[in-house]
Amino acid sequence: MPPNFDRIAPLYRWLEYLTFGWALHRCRNSFLSAVTSCRRALVLGDGDGRFMARLLASNPHLQVDAIDLSPAMLVRLSRRAHGADPTAASRLRTNVADARTFLPTGSYDLVVTHFFLDCLTQPEVESLATRIRPYLAPNALWLLSEFRIPKGSLRLPARALIRSLYFGFRILTGLRTSQLPDHAAALSSSAFQPSTGWYSSTATPGLTVHDAHGDTGSGALP
Ligand SMILES: C[S@@+](CC[C@H](N)C(=O)[O-])C[C@H]1O[C@@H](n2cnc3c(N)ncnc32)[C@H](O)[C@@H]1O
Repeated sequence: MPPNFDRIAPLYRWLEYLTFGWALHRCRNSFLSAVTSCRRALVLGDGDGRFMARLLASNPHLQVDAIDLSPAMLVRLSRRAHGADPTAASRLRTNVADARTFLPTGSYDLVVTHFFLDCLTQPEVESLATRIRPYLAPNALWLLSEFRIPKGSLRLPARALIRSLYFGFRILTGLRTSQLPDHAAALSSSAFQPSTGWYSSTATPGLTVHDAHGDTGSGALP
């Protein structure tokens, strides 16, 4: 049974601000300026479209396909994108689909997954990367933000926070995933060749955010 985010779509951003303040917002946007040369983007599980609105407004030549399981999220995403940029109507296509089985129809030089891969299991992330790889240009970028359990004294509180987040999503949406996947391992081991670039922005849950500095990485996959 796939998760259903429709019920929490109207409240989603308020739940986020209540839990994390602006931390996730800063993560999502920290590499916006690095993708301004991209022309065709595949955006998976963007939720209510706060990032999408910024992406379209900051890159006037970008065409975007947005995939989400939740029609209610996609309605919000479209509304927000159109409100932020009048040209969005001709540059944004939305598609209700499950990323675990979805097959692209176009080719892309940018993939975006912000706080989305954590809805999938490790094999599902690997399968997704393998499935979409043939549709990506050789120099494609993958822009992502994910939670990370830090080392040291924050490890236990961070693990508790992640556990409670998964518990909350299970109750509210039926999400069955209960562990953070190792997205870097999945991307590098399953699908990506040396010429494919990626950008990563890693949030430490609820505690500190590493955006364009420190633990945040950007570079080419091995
Ligand atoms: C945790 S929210 C993240 C939203 C947003 N990207 C963010 O940064 O907050 C997950 C989003 O992915 C969607 N989603 C979850 N599982 C999915 C799947 N298997 N296929 C497509 N979309 C999915 C949900 O409907 C929701 O919009």
